[in-house]
Amino acid sequence: MGKIIAIINQKGSVGKTTTTTYLAEALAMHKKKVLIIDLDPLSNYMSRYDLSSQEALPLSECMEGRTTLNECISTVENHALFIAVGGKELIGFEIAALHLPNREKVLAGLLTNVKDDYDYILIDSPSSLGLLTMNALTAANEVIIPIKCDYDIFEGTAELLRTIKDVSNSLNPQLTIKGFLITHVNTALRSTSINLKEIHICYGSKVFHTLIPCDGDLSTYYSQLATELFG
Ligand SMILES: Nc1ncnc2c1ncn2[C@@H]1O[C@H](COP(=O)(O)OP(=O)(O)OP(=O)(O)O)[C@@H](O)[C@H]1O
Ligand SMILES: [Mg+2]
Repeated sequence: MGKIIAIINQKGSVGKTTTTTYLAEALAMHKKKVLIIDLDPLSNYMSRYDLSSQEALPLSECMEGRTTLNECISTVENHALFIAVGGKELIGFEIAALHLPNREKVLAGLLTNVKDDYDYILIDSPSSLGLLTMNALTAANEVIIPIKCDYDIFEGTAELLRTIKDVSNSLNPQLTIKGFLITHVNTALRSTSINLKEIHICYGSKVFHTLIPCDGDLSTYYSQLATELFG
């Protein structure tokens, strides 16, 4: 059965999309079958992956109940992975679902039909704790929290952890935090070692050993992360 992992942080530009893409590509390189669910209306997967020749529908079509998730999945040939692209239409889902009784469980419902087809399903989420992120948390088995290594590293984390706890206490009891991934690490800065120490004091063994630096070939580091997390 596929493992569903949500990449979450309501703070912007911390590396959620970068983590989702590079980790998915690293897992696909290890011969795992991977599906990316792009739940961010503002992401740009269409430009990273050339999907122009594919006939998949936008993810909003199945989120709004007009088709199946399989109809929304494209194949990324050169990386041997699969993706359901969100796009701006997902903003409409947040509005259309306002009056649905189980609006946080829409994605979870859609994934029950496909999760046995994949080894890993990675959900990229938007920079908010709104309905789309709630759908990601309700559908996931585990959460990865990217944290940008800069002066306000802890901004918003208390609220984020509270939200995850609320979801695991109600909508999704199986939800666990896989861990914190530190991104944009610049070892040339003195503040970096202080920040890293503080993160370890707060989150201890939940902080991944693999650090994602602010330059260099990110695919190498994400490959290391894939091995650390999944062997
Ligand atoms: N480890 C890194 N080092 C340097 N730059 C990075 C790193 N990871 C991501 N970036 C860059 O930082 C920017 C933000 O990254 P990304 O889009 O992955 O963040 P995000 O959390 O998904 O943002 P958003 O909240 O807008 O969706 C991008 O321009 C990306 O290329
Ligand atoms: Mg993003």
